[in-house]
Amino acid sequence: MTRVALRPAINQAVETLRVAGVHSPQADAEYLAAHLLGVDRTRLALTPLVAPELIEEYRALVERRAQRIPLQHLTGTAAIGQIELAVGPGVFVPRPETELLFAWALAQLEALPHDHPPVVVDLCTGSGALALAIAQARPDADVHAIEIDPTALQWARRNADLRIAEGDTPITLYADDVTDSNLLTELNGEVDLVVANPPYIPEGAELDPEVAEHDPHLALFGGPDGLDVIRRMIPTITRLLRRGGSCAIEHDDTNGSDLAALLAEHGDFTDIVEHPDLAGKPRFVAATRN
Ligand SMILES: C[S@@+](CC[C@H](N)C(=O)[O-])C[C@H]1O[C@@H](n2cnc3c(N)ncnc32)[C@H](O)[C@@H]1O
Repeated sequence: MTRVALRPAINQAVETLRVAGVHSPQADAEYLAAHLLGVDRTRLALTPLVAPELIEEYRALVERRAQRIPLQHLTGTAAIGQIELAVGPGVFVPRPETELLFAWALAQLEALPHDHPPVVVDLCTGSGALALAIAQARPDADVHAIEIDPTALQWARRNADLRIAEGDTPITLYADDVTDSNLLTELNGEVDLVVANPPYIPEGAELDPEVAEHDPHLALFGGPDGLDVIRRMIPTITRLLRRGGSCAIEHDDTNGSDLAALLAEHGDFTDIVEHPDLAGKPRFVAATRN
């Protein structure tokens, strides 16, 4: 059977994506090829020749990426920690930035005394990203995750089932509002760790088409200053955390100090620390319940 070279098609795809304004054309062109071949991106060179039909399929996929459909909607997956999540229309695509909060959360759990299973709450769970990554890394943890959007919650349920099939400890998912004063009252004062990547973009911010047209509005925007949901979520966090328990909240890079000030004003938190991302931009704030 005739086989054709893959590399020229990838080079052409890089150019197509660059012209379309895609931010990482080389990586995306290679990820899409690797996805079609069912191999890791780093192993593409091991498949220099492919069937002509695969090139046709590849070009069609690249064309869709050039229309600024998110890469993860085309491959159907996004990674966090050691796990892959199913993602697609109707759910926020987990971002690499959140890995920092995840790593911080694991370090917090590691530092806890091993006298009880740690209780963890993920507010605004979306696809289940933080909750499921924590459950995978810490099978001893009792993880609870809350999501208000029914479509996002369907993705979270699907991911939770996929993780159970992989042998992870099940998490408990709730269809609820993180600002509701009746949320999870049975865990009042019992929680060791609260993590949250809530909607935090200020209304009116300019966004790439991948985000503006494909991430749900409810997942993105947090009112005029981006802090609407966070502001109303702080009483929930305060109520749930045990004394000495800690929380981390991801935020827009324009409002790190505002969030730190909100927690300080609240009066129930100590050790309030702003954490930057790898680019040096403020990314999440951590605090301890005093
Ligand atoms: C930025 S996304 C983050 C999703 C996930 N934590 C992650 O890191 O990929 C925010 C999520 O919060 C959900 N959400 C927004 N307002 C909420 C509320 N009041 N209560 C519960 N979930 C909410 C959105 O539907 C969305 O799934």
